[in-house]
Amino acid sequence: MKVVSIVGARPQLVKLAPIAAAFAATEHEHVIVHTGQHYDADLSDVFFSGLGIPDPDVHLGIGSGSHGVQTGKTLAALDPVLAAERPDWVLVYGDTNSTLAGALSAVKMHLPVAHLEAGLRSFNRQMPEEHNRVLTDHCADLLLAPTEEAMRHLANEGLAKRAVLAGDVMVDVCLRVRDLVRAGEAPRPELPEGIDPSAPYLLATLHRAENTDDPRRLATLVAALAELPVPVALLAHPRLLARAEEHGIKLGGGSLHVGRPLPYAGMVAAVLGSVGVVTDSGGLQKEAYLLDRPCTTLRPETEWVETLADDWNRLVPDPSALGRDGWVETVTRPAPRADRGTPYGDGRAAENVVRILAEHAR
Ligand code: UD1
Repeated sequence: MKVVSIVGARPQLVKLAPIAAAFAATEHEHVIVHTGQHYDADLSDVFFSGLGIPDPDVHLGIGSGSHGVQTGKTLAALDPVLAAERPDWVLVYGDTNSTLAGALSAVKMHLPVAHLEAGLRSFNRQMPEEHNRVLTDHCADLLLAPTEEAMRHLANEGLAKRAVLAGDVMVDVCLRVRDLVRAGEAPRPELPEGIDPSAPYLLATLHRAENTDDPRRLATLVAALAELPVPVALLAHPRLLARAEEHGIKLGGGSLHVGRPLPYAGMVAAVLGSVGVVTDSGGLQKEAYLLDRPCTTLRPETEWVETLADDWNRLVPDPSALGRDGWVETVTRPAPRADRGTPYGDGRAAENVVRILAEHAR
């Protein structure tokens, strides 16, 4: 069997790591196509080197642009690549513009498409990620769902026949790297200046368009983080830096300490070193959950609803609506004691994915 993986943005590289390792343990041929949606070394190269992913076989060098430009350029660039490879499966990951372009290109060339992380929904039609995942699910041939909840969403949309519960490949990589960090086999993370790793700190990220692109909203969120009584390590995505500069919003000051994004092992170590996480990232909500840290999510909804059980994750669309005390109480609440079970699988999802692809290959 020959499979072409199409990736382009940071969270896809994290998911690619266990998939590439699972393919490497088989006779199957695995071709990696990087669209180049993320091009900063901090968002791309460090994930290949840090997670031991083989270099991409093809790099499209697409870069930034409006959604139409980014998706369209990727779509056009993929046609000759997929025509030359003619794989048994095109495998697309998650919810980015690279995912949608990969799925569309394959469908139009009559190549079978599998969607990893199928069935996630925020039901928020303003989010580019929601457009991408819904459209990808409806055009893909095989839907690899990470959770029972995702299976239910797919069934509700009439897609049950194409859906298979595969588990979540992010558990595979997160638990493997957690064990390396605990064994002292990973380098120490470079936390922002002013953060003392031996004292309590909160770990924060902020990059979703709905939080960064409206200046008033971004200013409110940054001010809320700065007024917390615990130091906050904000690992700034390039989008956050670009929008803050554009809107004249100063990042930092008060409790807020701004630094660069971390490589994956550094991120896991930084979560383990923290007393809690504040984020709008999907992946980080789940990593906090898997690594036993309470999470506060700066959004009105989450796709990873399992993390909300027993208060492991709390949604805060608007910190100012809670009042200062309510906001401080929320982000500094201790980790719950409740047992969580394994709603995201047992850490062997990548093997499942390879097996399911082989079973369903035409
Ligand atoms: C994208 C995904 C999102 C994912 C996120 C993870 C879409 C629609 N969104 O959001 O689902 O959670 O990646 O990081 O596909 N930029 C750089 N360097 C880079 C990449 C981006 O400077 O390497 C800047 C550019 O100014 C760009 C902006 O960030 O315009 C946004 O990048 P884009 O790829 O559109 O989306 P992300 O916010 O990264």
